[in-house]
Amino acid sequence: MPEPKNDVQTRAVAQGIRLDALPQHIACIMDGNGRWATARGEHRLVGHQQGYLTLKDVLTTADELGIRYLTVYGFSAENWRRPGEEVNGLMDLIAAAASAELTGLIKNNVRVRISGRLDELPQSTRDNLRALEAETKDNTGITFVLAVNYGGRQEILDAARAVAEAGEPWTEESISKHLYTPEIPEPDLMVRTAGELRWSNFLIWQAAYAELYVTDSPWPEFGEEELFAAVTQFQRRIRKFGGLAEG
Ligand code: FPP
Repeated sequence: MPEPKNDVQTRAVAQGIRLDALPQHIACIMDGNGRWATARGEHRLVGHQQGYLTLKDVLTTADELGIRYLTVYGFSAENWRRPGEEVNGLMDLIAAAASAELTGLIKNNVRVRISGRLDELPQSTRDNLRALEAETKDNTGITFVLAVNYGGRQEILDAARAVAEAGEPWTEESISKHLYTPEIPEPDLMVRTAGELRWSNFLIWQAAYAELYVTDSPWPEFGEEELFAAVTQFQRRIRKFGGLAEG
């Protein structure tokens, strides 16, 4: 068993987490920002702002714990159906966060990848997100994948079109190769907050064998304790990939 390298790992080990059996890639559906804000008599955008602060903490904690990839659903292809004020607020938040976080992400050796149909985003959001990717591409720490204007069906459709255009054979490998972030290993743990038991069109190809962890906490209240709980559940499960349990 590896020795803990920092305080997060020390606390994780104290709770029974095995550092040699961590999920490599965690994906999060960050649900419940709106309800969290409304319950406090605040505007829904206050919830998204708080969700952003939570995300920063979760990224840092996941990195220190030893998670190699963290993917989050920042804005879905279906989120355009929300009122214009909320859509604009989310776009502004994402663009502002991308520019405000650049220096810190570089300093912390985080590599950023963006997933989704970026060509449909406002120019400033797109430019800031692309800059984030370009300036962090050689970093070697945790990879943070931000899904923006992302839909799982759309991603599969875009990949299928690319396979057809390239005249490649119709295999799982060729579809996988043309997804938005083909070099990222599939998530092995999918976390959803705010108690909803739905997939919501997130990573529907890649998460075929992911373990699911659902918590009633809304995303703004998701912290180290919840992350540890998710990893603990993951480590208790026996993954069979359609076969039989070993041993
Ligand atoms: C779902 O909660 C959350 C979203 C649609 C947006 C998630 C965005 C953030 C956490 C901000 C991220 C910021 C950056 C910079 C990536 P909801 O609004 O559906 O909540 P509800 O179900 O309670 O209404």
